[in-house]
Amino acid sequence: MRRKLVAGNWKMHGNHRSNAELLAGIAASRPFGCDVAVCVPYPYLAETAVALAASDLRWGAQDCSAHEQGAYTGEVSAAMLAEFGCRYVIVGHSERRQFHAESDALVADKAKAALSHGLTPIVCVGETLAQREAGQTEAVVKRQLSAVIHALGHCAGEMVVAYEPVWAIGTGKVATPEQAQAVHALLRAQLKAATPHADQMQILYGGSMKPDNAVSLLSQPDIDGGLIGGASLKAADFVAICRAAG
Ligand code: 13P
Repeated sequence: MRRKLVAGNWKMHGNHRSNAELLAGIAASRPFGCDVAVCVPYPYLAETAVALAASDLRWGAQDCSAHEQGAYTGEVSAAMLAEFGCRYVIVGHSERRQFHAESDALVADKAKAALSHGLTPIVCVGETLAQREAGQTEAVVKRQLSAVIHALGHCAGEMVVAYEPVWAIGTGKVATPEQAQAVHALLRAQLKAATPHADQMQILYGGSMKPDNAVSLLSQPDIDGGLIGGASLKAADFVAICRAAG
């Protein structure tokens, strides 16, 4: 059986005091029966690394540059993230695709940059409500994933994939377990055609996952964990989802 992964995406939330409380609350609830990570805003990576160093909890960032280094004001390279002990970096989150016009090709380059520095990219794919209603879900997620598979080549098996239907993010509208499983199965089939490691790869669901819907989502055969937004900001809720996964 695949080990599950629950990753918190704090987005642009937090401050020194609330972060310390949140991390202490999660750490105090160990051990978990699944992999657990928090993806924090860049300025808080250093303190997160210190707070979690003695634990088996993992941390990461929410984006990275596709470039190695250079005159790219405001960007943060994968090499820099590696220096802070990051294990993961989210790439292609729909908020980056939407608000920063990130293309499939750019997301693929970011995933490649992450892997080349030993980070595991958590590659997000997902359709908008209009795309779902137009019957384009399969085509959209396949196109998004295909760009990354192509860029990573024989290393494609090393990424984590996250299916995040855009209409379920921060809306309280969650995909039904059947809707999510259907897309996860499609993604697994696509991965199988690309890498011999597809059966071991973690495919996370993200979009209004909460303690009260986590069990039904996580019991689906191809849902291997969660990428958690709002509920990752409260230790009790995040811990409850980790318990549901493990
Ligand atoms: P919510 O859990 O707040 O819907 O956010 C999901 C998400 O975007 C995680 O990356």
